[in-house]
Amino acid sequence: MVTVSNTQQIQDNSSPSYDKNSELKAFDDTKAGVKGLVDAGTTEIPRIFIHPEVSGSRPTPSLEETHFIFPLIDLENISKDPIKHKEIVEKVGDASETWGFFQVINHGIPESVLDEMMRGARRFFEQDIEVKKKYYHRDYTQRVIYNSNFDLYSPKALVANWRDSLYSTMGPDPFNPEELPEACREITMEYSDHVMKMGCTLLELLSESLGLKPSHLREMECSKGLSILCNYYPSCPQPELTIGLSKHTDNDFFTVLLQDNIGGLQVLHQNHWVDVPPTPGALVINIGDVLQLISNDKFKSVDHRALSNKVGPRISVASFFSSGPLPSYRLYGPIEELLSEDNPPKYRATTLKDFYDYFSQKGLDGTSNLSRYRI
Ligand code: OGA
Ligand code: NI
Repeated sequence: MVTVSNTQQIQDNSSPSYDKNSELKAFDDTKAGVKGLVDAGTTEIPRIFIHPEVSGSRPTPSLEETHFIFPLIDLENISKDPIKHKEIVEKVGDASETWGFFQVINHGIPESVLDEMMRGARRFFEQDIEVKKKYYHRDYTQRVIYNSNFDLYSPKALVANWRDSLYSTMGPDPFNPEELPEACREITMEYSDHVMKMGCTLLELLSESLGLKPSHLREMECSKGLSILCNYYPSCPQPELTIGLSKHTDNDFFTVLLQDNIGGLQVLHQNHWVDVPPTPGALVINIGDVLQLISNDKFKSVDHRALSNKVGPRISVASFFSSGPLPSYRLYGPIEELLSEDNPPKYRATTLKDFYDYFSQKGLDGTSNLSRYRI
């Protein structure tokens, strides 16, 4: 149960000295996340969520009409028609080089599975708080983590985000499904199988568009690990003061994102924040930092963010191809076959765990993760 006193304590912005840490802790201790604030009838967002204007990162709604058309790729007949296949490989390559983002339709995951995954995520966040609370913690060695703001206490994080999340590491090692919350257990297992299958197809397309044999990225074990992150962005009474998810790049090979029809995801493209249009049945794919690193900057891991919204909740489910927090020994550096005298390696090799740990410890501070590895 969210205690009213906690909420009031957080809302009391009038005291002259702003003790940020105790406000963060009071919020964290409710274990009810941002949803708890909304359920308690918050009309003015607590200070920890207010974007400092000076940082220049407070998102102002873009009034300009941009002429950008967000790439949409139809995967229909991908394995049956060789001409279509070649076209798709080119489109995937173009989008990965210029946008770092694209949407796919006819990807083979039944709409019923997508819908049920969204319902499962909603069931988790909207269930009895006493059941949900049991999953609330910040021990990132655990398989299942529900909390709000993984970087809540990170001194560099720009601002607390108007978002709650549930992170589940699905592989590479087999595990007991009972570890997943019951509210979304069955569908998370089923959805992740589908995403893994589609992810393998994508890896073939990405390999080919790099001029490598189709199995190259799979053989590098880019599809070995998978984590699923359910994002819950409650309706926000003052969306112009905060953000759903601060700008960041993903710290994986690539991400498959399922979003509902509310919208709010934006991608930084040619210095403009471009909306990713919610498209029924489509999945959003984006290149992560590790794929940028191993492609030696051919593919781009691009900044993106999610605005908060008066309407809500907005729900999204991000599937990250990486073994994330699990121990990993394999080193990933720029792919030899892509290097030449004119294209020397731009990065040193590193492990997936190093990437994950660096990202987690740094928090969403708006800076690049990749610069740490640049030669
Ligand atoms: C993410 C992400 C976007 C969204 O979880 O990394 O970028 O729309 N999510 O929820
Ligand atoms: Ni992301």
